[in-house]
Amino acid sequence: MTVLVTGGAGFIGSHLVRRLLDQTSQAVVILDNFNDFYDPRMKRANAALFENEPRVSLVEGDFRQARLCEDLFARCRFSHVIHLGAYPGVPYSLKEPQLYIDSNIAATAVLLEAARRNCVERFLFASSSTVYGRGAQSPFVEDAPLGIPASPYGATKRAAELLGFTWAQLYGLAFTSLRFFNVFGPRLRPELALAVFTRKILAGEPLPLFGDGSVLRDFTHVSDICTGIISALTAPHIAGESINLGHHEPVQMLHLIRMIEVAAGKQAIIEYHPTRAEDMPLTCADLTKARSLLGYEPHVPIADGVQKYVEWARGQAFGG
Ligand SMILES: NC(=O)c1ccc[n+]([C@@H]2O[C@H](COP(=O)([O-])OP(=O)(O)OC[C@H]3O[C@@H](n4cnc5c(N)ncnc54)[C@H](O)[C@@H]3O)[C@@H](O)[C@H]2O)c1
Repeated sequence: MTVLVTGGAGFIGSHLVRRLLDQTSQAVVILDNFNDFYDPRMKRANAALFENEPRVSLVEGDFRQARLCEDLFARCRFSHVIHLGAYPGVPYSLKEPQLYIDSNIAATAVLLEAARRNCVERFLFASSSTVYGRGAQSPFVEDAPLGIPASPYGATKRAAELLGFTWAQLYGLAFTSLRFFNVFGPRLRPELALAVFTRKILAGEPLPLFGDGSVLRDFTHVSDICTGIISALTAPHIAGESINLGHHEPVQMLHLIRMIEVAAGKQAIIEYHPTRAEDMPLTCADLTKARSLLGYEPHVPIADGVQKYVEWARGQAFGG
């Protein structure tokens, strides 16, 4: 049994690979192109965590290339695919929409096609709370009507989900969409708000806040996300489903800043900027379906997770 983790050198991917090694007996193939959306040295350092693991192989390559994927699938005979690789990040998707369409939609079709041709048993897709969009009722329920995504990024995630469900319907591919909510923890992507705020507060520099700080986000610790993904590898009756992996306790951005201040022992200097059209005012996951289908329960309280994140970031800043 071999599992393919696309984007396995990224933030969530590197945590997931560790958990796959600790909690399953599967061999793991990481497929990542180490793109420069953020400093590729961070991704190289993540991948280096596994260089002495005999069960992990690293393939450096781009999953937009159909030939590469076909060859890899034919060679490795994957039983499971966990498709985490993507161009992430809401604001940048307004600047480079085509890059998001190619990487998140077209490339997902390449992987779906390789998966069904090579009899993959299960295909888990990393979707996002952004698919709920403007107009969706909070808390977000998977099978209630969706709104219109507020960003090209959200639209690409929704489009990729739809492709997966079509492949499930046409070919019986066991495709499941896992909708992650505001994931955080060590090795967090450096452009995300929590990472930026923490760096700025630790450095005593002004931090940019978009809007008045009342925006609510359902921050979910990466260890809880990984627990949900691991459960989805074996849970019955999840093919063709979308399932939220969130925390169900949204926090205002100003409150998040206060938590970082406490953990850092330093005051924030806040520089207010206008609200951005691409930012949803609120994310909040309904967890009824995740509980019943995956036995999912988030365990890391946000204040604890933020405290540990700030300790990790301080170690990074001071070479620890
Ligand atoms: N972090 C969050 O809060 C969050 C929330 C919702 C959904 N997600 C989704 O979870 C997944 C992982 O997110 P992350 O935060 O770990 O991001 P990340 O950028 O750290 O990881 C993504 C990885 O995919 C790789 N990649 C991108 N395009 C590729 C390509 N064409 N070929 C090969 N590799 C490629 C990147 O190099 C990177 O290492 C993404 O699909 C993201 O959209 C993340």
